[in-house]
Amino acid sequence: MTDTILAAAASQVTAAQGIPTLVVRSFFDQPTNTASYVAHDPTTRRAAIIDSVLDFDAAAGRTDTASADAIIAYVRDEELGIDWLLETHAHADHLSAAPYLQKALGGALAIGREILRVQDVFGKIFNEGTDFARDGSEFDRLFDDGDRFAIGSIPAIALHVPGHTPADMAYVIGEAVFTGDTLFMPDYGSARADFPGGDARQLYRSIRRLLTLPAETRLFLCHDYKAPGRDRYAWETTVGAQRTGNVHVHEGVGEDEFVTMRMARDATLSMPKLILPSIQVNMRGGHLPEPEANGTRYLQIPLNVL
Ligand SMILES: [Fe+2]
Repeated sequence: MTDTILAAAASQVTAAQGIPTLVVRSFFDQPTNTASYVAHDPTTRRAAIIDSVLDFDAAAGRTDTASADAIIAYVRDEELGIDWLLETHAHADHLSAAPYLQKALGGALAIGREILRVQDVFGKIFNEGTDFARDGSEFDRLFDDGDRFAIGSIPAIALHVPGHTPADMAYVIGEAVFTGDTLFMPDYGSARADFPGGDARQLYRSIRRLLTLPAETRLFLCHDYKAPGRDRYAWETTVGAQRTGNVHVHEGVGEDEFVTMRMARDATLSMPKLILPSIQVNMRGGHLPEPEANGTRYLQIPLNVL
């Protein structure tokens, strides 16, 4: 079967030589190992914010906006207009700051349509009532595989890349791709696929799709944990570097081999520290649960479920 969506994405990358180069500024949050991005078109100064972080001190139950405020300061300094707040998926390791940023800067909040599945699964786990609609209405746009949008004059295509979660998206913007949690740096490999709705076989296929893009395609990753022997964080690489050097999925690694490796490795991993707070908030598009009668908001901890 020919993948016409990937072919369109590949020709977008190739054609990007004729249009302005996307300017990407990264913001790395060391406590959660998350890379957030502001990507803009230098000719129109229209921009997208990708995978923002709301700081959260789990021991104190306290949120903070220092990381988000750094993004707001950059956007204002650079005089950018925000068109999109893009989430690659419902993150399990940090809270999204998208609603806070949207209030300050505007823009449409978007995620993949399969977020409905995540809302359904985790709506049950958190025993949410009917006020949690599970229809994606917390978001302004739900992307399907192949949907097109733009950052100013730079064209973009949303790709559905499930596996890490059912809802993962990658965003091909000009000749750059924001991969979310599909791939990590070549020396670190790939994301886990053992969360509810995750699937190592799907993850392999999603990664293979991304790696059919031209070798020079810039890849911006969502996380970095430093690989053994590397003493600095890194979150930008290329399709070519992943094809030749990714320790989990370089060229020549077959689907079954990957699935066996991934499942064995996932069995050794403990749950991310912030999975329960993160999913509870991120399945709502980053909105905190409504306050109870005393005016305080609460997060729930389901026992013996995950
Ligand atoms: Fe993730």
